[in-house]
Parts: sequence; structure tokens; C-alpha cells
Amino acid sequence: MPAREKIILALDVSDREYALNIVDRFADHVDIYKVGLELFISGGPVVVEEIKKRGKRVFLDLKFHDIANTVIKASLAAARLGVYMFNLHASGGTEMMRRAKEAVVDLCLKENISRPKMLGVTVLTGLSQEVVKGELGIQHSLRTHVKQLSRLSVSAGLDGVVASGHEVEMLRSHFGKDFLIVTPGIRTSWSPPDDQKRTMTPRQAVREGADYIVLGRAVLSQPDPFKALELIQAEILTA
Ligand code: C5P
Repeated sequence: MPAREKIILALDVSDREYALNIVDRFADHVDIYKVGLELFISGGPVVVEEIKKRGKRVFLDLKFHDIANTVIKASLAAARLGVYMFNLHASGGTEMMRRAKEAVVDLCLKENISRPKMLGVTVLTGLSQEVVKGELGIQHSLRTHVKQLSRLSVSAGLDGVVASGHEVEMLRSHFGKDFLIVTPGIRTSWSPPDDQKRTMTPRQAVREGADYIVLGRAVLSQPDPFKALELIQAEILTA
């Protein structure tokens, strides 16, 4: 797979015009853009439409977590918006995920729209083992917890998960090659970890089996974002 097909660029900005300007500037290098809470709340669904108009795909990263009925409605809205993929918190439970998946499949068949990929969010890459145990009270290891949440995602019929690079190899060997793994928290040797805890380099994440890596500050906060992206793509090719 060419390096550019592995990359999702995170549009973590609040201004719609600025976000679309990034899409235009990176058009020759990136095909999938991540719209998260900040941009979706300030820019609205129209930002997704605008990205699609440019022939690009959207990963809607709103991490749905609510009662099943609400998550179903939100998932249907995401499908109608025509996003390429979106995510739900696996800790919302199997029923929430399964019913959302079934509703999306039904809608897409009925309205003849292509079904978005649905991912379970496992443990956020900004959380450490200490926080997961000490604050959230989860007694088994973080890796075991990620595996458990991934298992729930699979049994609910989701396409895969969002997980840190540290768990990719374990998940790949457990859930096989068709299980989709999207990995944020990517940091190069030259970019600081910021608030991320379980980081990994692009080369290593791809080598361990990530289907996609999410690049945010590792590209957009660099003095020369194009150079950073070029170096990352070269790095992926050697994975
Ligand atoms: O700038 P950085 O590369 O840290 O951005 C990572 C992006 O991935 C952010 O938009 C963040 O919300 C998102 N993300 C994450 N961890 C997850 C899921 C999504 O960091 N488990």
C-alpha cells in the first residue's frame, strides 16, 4: 500500500476556512482527513461536505458514547453525511455498538449509500496505565483492557478499533488481518509527545500492523509541515 494511503491528517483547528485551506494545500499528499470535536462544533457538518466536494474522505472522530438510542441516531446522521469512517466508544458496551451498526447497515441498504466504516475507541492514547488503574479503577492491565474493548467491538460487528501503537501488534495477532486498526498518538523522533502518553513512531506503528496512522501535531505543528509529511512518508516506506 502506498504511504499516502496509510495517512489520516487530523484537522484539529476551529476555523472552517483554515481547515479547508489545509485540505487544499495537502491535496496532492493526503486523501483522508479527520474532523474531530473542535472543528465539527465550530465549523458544522458543512465542513464534511466541503471536504467531500474536494474528492477527499472524512474520518468523523466524534467518539459517540451515550445510550443506544442516541448513538443510533448520531450514527445514522454520520452515515447520511457520507463520512468514510466514524467511531464510538467501545466502553459504551456491545448493545450500543451492535444496534448502531445494524441501524447503519439497514439505512445504507435502504437509501443506497455506501456504508461508513465503524470503529470502537479503546483506551485513548492520552491515558497512561497509572490513570487507567488509579483514576478509572480498572484493575487489569491497560493492554488487557484494550483487548477486552476490542473484543466487544468485534462481537458488536464493528470494522475495527482506534488503538495506540503499543497495542497494535497484539491486536493484529489476535483479531487477524481484516480487523481495521487506526492509530493516533504518532510522534516522530523530532516531534514532542505533547499531551500524548502512549506514542509511537510512524515506521513502528505501520510495521506493527496499523492500517492507518493519524497525524496531527507531528505534521501541522512543525515549522515545515510538508517536509515533516514527506519525511514521515519516506519512513513508512521503510517499515
Ligand atoms: O496532534 P496529535 O497527533 O496528538 O492528534 C491526535 C488526534 O487523534 C487528536 O485529534 C485526537 O483527538 C485523536 N485521537 C487520539 N486518541 C484516540 C483517538 C483519537 O489522540 N484514541
